[in-house]
Amino acid sequence: MGCSICTVISNKPVAEGLYLMSVEAPGICSTALPGQFVHVRTGDVIDPLLRRPLCINRIDSGNGTLDLLYRVVGRGTAALAGKKPRDPLDVLGPLGNGFTVRGNFRNALVIAGGMGIAPMFFLIDELIRTEKYVTLLWGARTAAELFVSSADFAPGGLTLHTATEDGKAGHAGYVTDLLASILEQLSDAGSARAYTCGPVPMLKTVQKIMSGRGIPVEASLEERMACGIGVCAGCSVNTVQGKKLVCKDGPVMNLMEIVYDE
Ligand SMILES: Cc1cc2nc3c(=O)[nH]c(=O)nc-3n(C[C@H](O)[C@H](O)[C@H](O)COP(=O)(O)OP(=O)(O)OC[C@H]3O[C@@H](n4cnc5c(N)ncnc54)[C@H](O)[C@@H]3O)c2cc1C
Ligand code: FES
Repeated sequence: MGCSICTVISNKPVAEGLYLMSVEAPGICSTALPGQFVHVRTGDVIDPLLRRPLCINRIDSGNGTLDLLYRVVGRGTAALAGKKPRDPLDVLGPLGNGFTVRGNFRNALVIAGGMGIAPMFFLIDELIRTEKYVTLLWGARTAAELFVSSADFAPGGLTLHTATEDGKAGHAGYVTDLLASILEQLSDAGSARAYTCGPVPMLKTVQKIMSGRGIPVEASLEERMACGIGVCAGCSVNTVQGKKLVCKDGPVMNLMEIVYDE
């Protein structure tokens, strides 16, 4: 983990309120794992003071660049949206743990809702590279937010199913509506792993549907963060093993061990 002043290469809207920023950061790219995040100082001086956590969306290790996919929700992300090519960007990372990519399994089921798609590009690239069969269930509010297709990944590596709340692309409804039927079609559930990221109601539903199936499910969790390095205890979640910190013990955790309030 290190802190570096990186250089913005590009920063463009990909859908309403959704930006894709590419940053030159060879040091971070050389050690980053899918699922890890960076802590970004979004202001030029001290406003906003606190860094903002963002998943590593994708890396290009050949060029030493990493992508950040973010939704503008407040002051920090609005400041980020104002960055121009060649602007400096103070980035701390890579932080946290990563998803399990290697291992003796063939099928990878990836379930993403909303901004939960952010860490999944890097994960899917790595799963395809290690010759897994990847099925992506991707849910968004509108069709416009489904801004990539399976053609944006290595050929033949990905089967994509989409759901939109506006009903204009894929299944009309929630992405979790698709999960049970996809699990029925999975030829070899004994050799599968699942990965998920999205809003808490979605994670709760995924936890219920996956319960008792014997498929390991890793979730990338989001909590409000202050320090990002395990000092302030501001990002704790309840698990069957007691409280854990998303920034230090995660952000990737075993979804089946997370204890949600009813
Ligand atoms: C490990 C991790 C990875 C993340 N990766 C991404 C990513 O790749 N792309 C992305 O768009 N966002 C991501 N987030 C969320 C992102 O950090 C927040 O949206 C961002 O910090 C908001 O900063 P802001 O100053 O723009 O908004 P603020 O003014 O701080 O807040 C605006 C609104 O967003 C809510 N909010 C702020 N932080 C969070 C949070 N962590 N979770 C849920 N709601 C929040 C606030 O409650 C408030 O309603 C991630 C969060 C974590 C913890
Ligand atoms: S953000 Fe401070 S302990 Fe996690």
